[in-house]
Amino acid sequence: MNNQLTETADFLKNRGITGAETGIVLGTGLGDLAHRIRPEIVLDYEDIPNFPVSTVETHHGKLIYGELCGHKVLAMQGRFHYYEGYTMNQIVFPIRVMKLLGIKQVMLSNAAGGINLSYKKGSLMLITDHINLLMNNPLMGPNDEDLGVRFPDMSEAYHPGLLHQMRKAADEENITLYEGVYTAVSGPNLETGAEYRFLKIIGADVVGMSTVPEVIACNHMKLPCVAVSVITDECDPDNLQPVKLSDILETAAIAEKSLTKLFERFLLIG
Ligand code: HPA
Repeated sequence: MNNQLTETADFLKNRGITGAETGIVLGTGLGDLAHRIRPEIVLDYEDIPNFPVSTVETHHGKLIYGELCGHKVLAMQGRFHYYEGYTMNQIVFPIRVMKLLGIKQVMLSNAAGGINLSYKKGSLMLITDHINLLMNNPLMGPNDEDLGVRFPDMSEAYHPGLLHQMRKAADEENITLYEGVYTAVSGPNLETGAEYRFLKIIGADVVGMSTVPEVIACNHMKLPCVAVSVITDECDPDNLQPVKLSDILETAAIAEKSLTKLFERFLLIG
């Protein structure tokens, strides 16, 4: 086992982070759920040994341990993106630490552009599958057999039981939850019209710059995961509009209210 992973997990355990069942990763502009947690321990990423430090202004970079809807959760407010220059191993480091802490399931959220134009801006999409266009992978290099096998299966990358639970949560909250394929690109630029057209052809419903590395790391460790995209812009190559980060954040701010309800209901059911 990688020494840094055990060192960080031991540090967190010594600080009292034991017994968390659910890991939560909150995407760009989607930190609201963090305020619903009854916090017991809050740590800045800077204060956690071996943790990469978040560089994007819209991310707070806090690890929050506490109670949410009767569950002990460990939430990452702010994640690490490939476009920031982190290595794939740095990006998935916190997910691996979660596994070492005994976490049993991971919920992820992200902001994404809608490729499937019937999915409207501001709505939510349950990720049922993904395409990795990052041209990199957190499992490259020597395999750590303590974490998982060399060639992990990805036939059920998003855990069927958790997908079912998320559909049920949406149903109970009367939230429209689309379903589809998330495609990860490196960014940081948004896509050209030709790229949006290409993404549609290969079967993407949404496009974003995160989540896939974490989901690969979860599957490697057989850690069940589920992920929801907030559709922050519509990517119509035939009517391409400039996308501004401020617009994306504004839409995320509106949609995160339903995302928060959805995630809370999910926990209440489970
Ligand atoms: N493309 C890539 N990433 C994104 C987008 C997009 O249109 N919107 C939000 N994240």
